Amino acid sequence: MRKNRHYLRVLDLSASEITMLIARAIELKSMRKNTVEYIPARGRVLGMLFEKPSTRTRVSFEAAMYQLGGNVCFLASRDLQLQRGEPLKDTARVLSRYVDVLAVRTFSQDIVDELAVWSSIPVINALTDSQHPCQILSDIMTVIEMKGNEVEKLKIAWIGDGNNMANSWMELSARLGFELHLACPEGYMPDPAVVDEARAHGARLALTTDPGQAVDAADVVNTDVWASMGQEAEAEARKKVFQPYQLNSVLLGLAKNDAIVLHCLPAHRDEEITEDVLEGAQSVVWHQAENKLHIHKAILEWAMGLV
Ligand code: CP
Ligand code: NVA
Repeated sequence: MRKNRHYLRVLDLSASEITMLIARAIELKSMRKNTVEYIPARGRVLGMLFEKPSTRTRVSFEAAMYQLGGNVCFLASRDLQLQRGEPLKDTARVLSRYVDVLAVRTFSQDIVDELAVWSSIPVINALTDSQHPCQILSDIMTVIEMKGNEVEKLKIAWIGDGNNMANSWMELSARLGFELHLACPEGYMPDPAVVDEARAHGARLALTTDPGQAVDAADVVNTDVWASMGQEAEAEARKKVFQPYQLNSVLLGLAKNDAIVLHCLPAHRDEEITEDVLEGAQSVVWHQAENKLHIHKAILEWAMGLV
């Protein structure tokens, strides 16, 4: 029997699997543009266990599964017996008997890890406090569409919080070999354990507190909210600390003229990114958001062994 294809963090995939998923997502995107009907997931069900809000990830996973011919069962954690203390290991074994693949958005990475241990179906991480591995694939797909396949020649800048997205970018550098320059305030650098592990796997990382240094001559400039889901109580304090890390036209002016701007969204205009940059000619955020649909199809196909 084939190994259960969980996708909990970027390092779960090899470089060739990542390259295959992106190429496949580009193909699926073109099939959708050409209204080619393709319904290999007929009769299959995607369970979506979500403990945090979501617009893009939820809707793009649901649309992806429906367009592949399957069905979706959305499971808000507050409606499940999990809420009343049913153990994760019991939930995982029961859900495995009903659905074919499970996408999970939650707080601790330990929760997705435990669900994967006890599930006999593939478990996909749809965001945790420490990783956002599906998002990162739509982000790099967007970079490849705009800049070509030779990502190892690119300088990618990450400005702001050393958060879940930063961690997934670092792991992706380990797999694809691009230079990743992260500029984060003191005290908000990524977890050193994740940095060390990514480096041990070959990531080319530079960490600084100076956003100008990170953005200088960059091909891709990337930011994210200053307070992630679950950090709402810190939002006001963070606004002060992160102000020098705002992605505005002055900072973007240090990047290459043809640099592109990424933001996984939702964005807080005139906090981490200014309105003019978000809506400007270098911003590719709407393509990036669209690509979640196509990459989720590729991930679902792969996880369910449909290809
Ligand atoms: N980028 C992203 O994950 O967006 P949602 O929180 O809306 O799913
Ligand atoms: N870092 C953000 C990403 C949202 C898609 C968060 O975790 O809230």
